[in-house]
Amino acid sequence: MTIKGLNLLFQSNRSKLTCTYKCGNACWGECTNTSDNVYFGDVVSRRGVLKSFGLGVVTVGGGAALVACGAEPGDGAATATATTDGSSTAAEKDVKALEGMQFEAVEPNTEDKVVVPAGYATGVLIAWGDPVYEDAPEFDPNNQTAKDAERQFGFNNDFAGLMEHPTDKNRLVYVCSHEYTTEPHMFPGYDAENPTDEQINIGLANHGHTILEVSKVGDSGELKREFGPLNRRITANTEFELRGPAAGSDLVKTGADATGTKVMGTLNNCAGGMTPWGTFLSGEENFDQYFANAAAVQGERAAEDVKRFGVEDEASERKWERLHDRFDLAKEPNEFNRFGYIVEINPLDPESTPVKHSSMGRFKHEAGNVHVAKDGTVVCYSGDDSRFEYIYKFVSSKKVKEGDLAHNMTILDEGTLYVASLEGNSPESEITGDGDLPSDGQFDGTGTWHKLLTVTADGAESHVDGFTPEEVAVYTRFAADKVGATKMDRPEDFQVNPVNEKLYLALTNNSYRGASGENASKSKEDVKEYAPIRENKNGLVMEIDDDFAGESFTWNLLLVCGDPEAASTYFGGFDKSKVSPISCPDNLAFDSYGNLWISTDGNALKSNDGLYAVGLEGENRGQVKCFLTVPKAAETCGPIVTDERVMVNVQHPGETDDATFENPGSHWPEGGDSVPRPAVAMAWRTDNKKIGVDA
Ligand code: FEO
Ligand code: CA
Ligand code: CA
Ligand code: CA
Repeated sequence: MTIKGLNLLFQSNRSKLTCTYKCGNACWGECTNTSDNVYFGDVVSRRGVLKSFGLGVVTVGGGAALVACGAEPGDGAATATATTDGSSTAAEKDVKALEGMQFEAVEPNTEDKVVVPAGYATGVLIAWGDPVYEDAPEFDPNNQTAKDAERQFGFNNDFAGLMEHPTDKNRLVYVCSHEYTTEPHMFPGYDAENPTDEQINIGLANHGHTILEVSKVGDSGELKREFGPLNRRITANTEFELRGPAAGSDLVKTGADATGTKVMGTLNNCAGGMTPWGTFLSGEENFDQYFANAAAVQGERAAEDVKRFGVEDEASERKWERLHDRFDLAKEPNEFNRFGYIVEINPLDPESTPVKHSSMGRFKHEAGNVHVAKDGTVVCYSGDDSRFEYIYKFVSSKKVKEGDLAHNMTILDEGTLYVASLEGNSPESEITGDGDLPSDGQFDGTGTWHKLLTVTADGAESHVDGFTPEEVAVYTRFAADKVGATKMDRPEDFQVNPVNEKLYLALTNNSYRGASGENASKSKEDVKEYAPIRENKNGLVMEIDDDFAGESFTWNLLLVCGDPEAASTYFGGFDKSKVSPISCPDNLAFDSYGNLWISTDGNALKSNDGLYAVGLEGENRGQVKCFLTVPKAAETCGPIVTDERVMVNVQHPGETDDATFENPGSHWPEGGDSVPRPAVAMAWRTDNKKIGVDA
């Protein structure tokens, strides 16, 4: 694997170096889903063409009232603010922002700092290399060791969660994941062809998770890191228990683990979610890039699998396989099948063994986010973040039992795994690829959840012809192909808004969607109503009304992201002259009022990534306001939005292609001529009042 050259179609701000080290060039390579699964939408939307003219408009979400039923195709951008009764719209008056969003929007910028609205302060909670354990040394980038790194804050923090401390009211417990390492920016004089053994082991130690006790600073929203008994690092060397149908199967047995139940480490943990029973979930995402020698893998399905995930035929970029056989598929082909799961961690027991849940399938899990239905059934949503891959949900058969952690930590083992197909309700001829709204005024439609796998205490049942239960759990993408799953534009965070109980899905971008020219062969599907932008560079945000435990849903596109001055964009019907530009939506959060908050990754509008609040209801629906931007070349991750504070994980600051350790692309957070350090940034009101509420 090497750093790929410039692809003119891919105009994200993300550097080539980030592509290489973050996702193993998933951004640049051939699309790996070559399935010709019966595409449900083709079948249904052809039917839809015949039927839809006589049907009423399917309206989903609060935006329905702002939609013009009589609009003609092609004038979507202009008509988005008309109403059915002709009354004045958001376009014609200044709309007061909803509670939670009452701040002065931050303008697009390229500053090498965290920028927040007037009246807010910022700080850094912890940065790469800071000690997590009291006996760990202070960070010295010129004198790193693997032993120290196992006890210091890891690299490139992504997911973030905050929970109450079990005993101390003045403390909270902060948890996060460490997605990946960027060795050329971590080590002085790094030689990518000849990494030292110590550098390889430092890389392993900088992956995983951190659990950190933090204390409240006075009455402000500021937090301070503490050394407490809950502090813990989990790394690529921590033992995990594999559960579900894959566990114990021949697909996951290795030389080091003949039981197929004990996995060393977790890799590329991207986003995640807190559970109501006091644990957190984390998705193993681009795990393929750590493995080498795909060409040596035997067996048709296994060989297809390494290809679909994109493992290199020969050496990996980091070359960990030179030191550790487990990363060499020529020596340990099954080790690969032990990654790509949702992991669950109990942060309140530092001795606990983290779990990998194979009942929820194996793919490039962006995250896992749970919702508890009214009867206690747990639904866990997860996107497979690759171009033209799928969205999934798991519906538990067990119910949550308050106060029974041991029981609750088995909930995600038993139940049914589903994958989604979507269909639009407008004629395909009205989906132009340019963002023109169809004549019903919305990109919207319906969807179906297709069963893949059911796991019970007595065993597991596959719902896919030709697949055993353990094969569904391991080769989930291929099983999903078979039931007609819908190819999406890189599904990232996928979670329920606890206030309005609707689901939101970030579809970050897909520059190969309906692509022509040099990328035509990489397009696996043309534009569709659920992916209506050709060569989608700026992403989409979908709103879904799901039955939770049921098998059907309706959906609509809340945002077609990008420059609001571009005709292709859509902001839920809100006046586009009064919104912040937003590009490449990635992680989601909700404030206490039910506003949606979106962090971005790879802003294709030539300004820094940021965190944006989005109104969802009434005349504020689609109002997007930038609250914060992160420093140069950084990605905004893991947002936490409470009444007291906003927190973001600032990932890969300064990760530009022309930067090196010696000549950094950013000096955040320490300034001067320091090396950039991924870190946790906080923002709070200087008057200690609630975030986003007019005093
Ligand atoms: Fe790690 Fe899907 O972003
Ligand atoms: Ca429609
Ligand atoms: Ca992400
Ligand atoms: Ca991302």
